[in-house]
Amino acid sequence: MKAVVLESFGGPEVLAIREVPDPVPGPEEIRIRVAASALNRADLLERQGFYPPPGRKPAFQIPGLEVSGWVDAVGDRVTRFLPGDAVMALLTGGGYAEYALSHERLAMAVPPGLPVVEAAAIPEVFLTAFDGLYARGGGKPGDRVLVHAGASGVGSAAIQLARQAGFRVAATVGSQRKLEACYAFGADRVINYRTETFREAVAEWSGGEGVNVILDFVGQQYLEDNLLSLAPEGTMVLIGTLSGSAASINLGIVLARRLKIHGTALRSRPLEQKMALVQAFHHQAAGWLSSGAVKPVIDRAYPLAEVADAHRYMESNQNIGKILVQI
Ligand SMILES: NC(=O)c1ccc[n+]([C@@H]2O[C@H](COP(=O)([O-])OP(=O)(O)OC[C@H]3O[C@@H](n4cnc5c(N)ncnc54)[C@H](OP(=O)(O)O)[C@@H]3O)[C@@H](O)[C@H]2O)c1
Repeated sequence: MKAVVLESFGGPEVLAIREVPDPVPGPEEIRIRVAASALNRADLLERQGFYPPPGRKPAFQIPGLEVSGWVDAVGDRVTRFLPGDAVMALLTGGGYAEYALSHERLAMAVPPGLPVVEAAAIPEVFLTAFDGLYARGGGKPGDRVLVHAGASGVGSAAIQLARQAGFRVAATVGSQRKLEACYAFGADRVINYRTETFREAVAEWSGGEGVNVILDFVGQQYLEDNLLSLAPEGTMVLIGTLSGSAASINLGIVLARRLKIHGTALRSRPLEQKMALVQAFHHQAAGWLSSGAVKPVIDRAYPLAEVADAHRYMESNQNIGKILVQI
């Protein structure tokens, strides 16, 4: 099969398409004939050599944390899918390829009515956002949530899920175009950080009470203002560190407001935890996806041969929602 293989690390030009052996499914795995994979910020780090796949080094390092497509072969103990089924799946790697393997319990049926290609934009960011809001953030309907990078892949999923679940949602973005998009996703208040200070805007929006949950991707640069934007007993869920990871913290704020800081990394979690997350997400959100109440947000799609341009586009921070690589 054709696949993007990382033979060296560096800029987008290291993404080389090679011919490699087709993957063979293990007993509980399905092999997916890939319709599309979607980019994640982590793919840029992996390409630069900073985010190796967890566990044993693979024979061919193929990036790609999620795919959609059709089941093509199944292992001996697979019970949930048959060849021909349309699925979307969370992977630890291997998505930028004609065929990919997934444990059957990390795959979900493509929601009815959704084109199979578009479903590639769901697994990684919707599962991350869902986990951040509920399991990590402990959010409940009626809570106020602040979603940073609201127009990112994860942000666009988080705003829709939070809105659908009855949260009140504020989001931050870096442009007017992204601001309008976040209102369309269902945010109640969108803050352009280039023209407003998010701490002041959140204080005003919440009547001085602060927010119960923050989904943060920025890290270092936002830490203090995040802590000062939380309501007592609030939780900051740290999902990314786009501005840097070393930061000093005023423990007095954490102590006085009884705050929680919860870090998360999906890719390296044990298989059992990922299975439980997929199941919980499917239970709560499958109906929303089927009815179109929440939707994958797709900025654009590139053919596999132009995967380097897809990386360059993500690096330019222009995307609203997801970037697909169509196989
Ligand atoms: N922990 C996990 O398991 C997990 C899983 C999935 C994703 N993530 C993380 O979640 C984040 C979003 O991922 P994604 O794939 O959805 O990203 P994405 O679609 O590429 O969007 C990232 C956006 O973040 C904003 N941004 C970039 N640098 C920034 C900075 N220094 N300060 C403030 N904003 C900045 C930009 O939007 P603006 O123009 O609005 O600034 C950019 O477009 C990444 O950090 C990624 O690593 C973590």
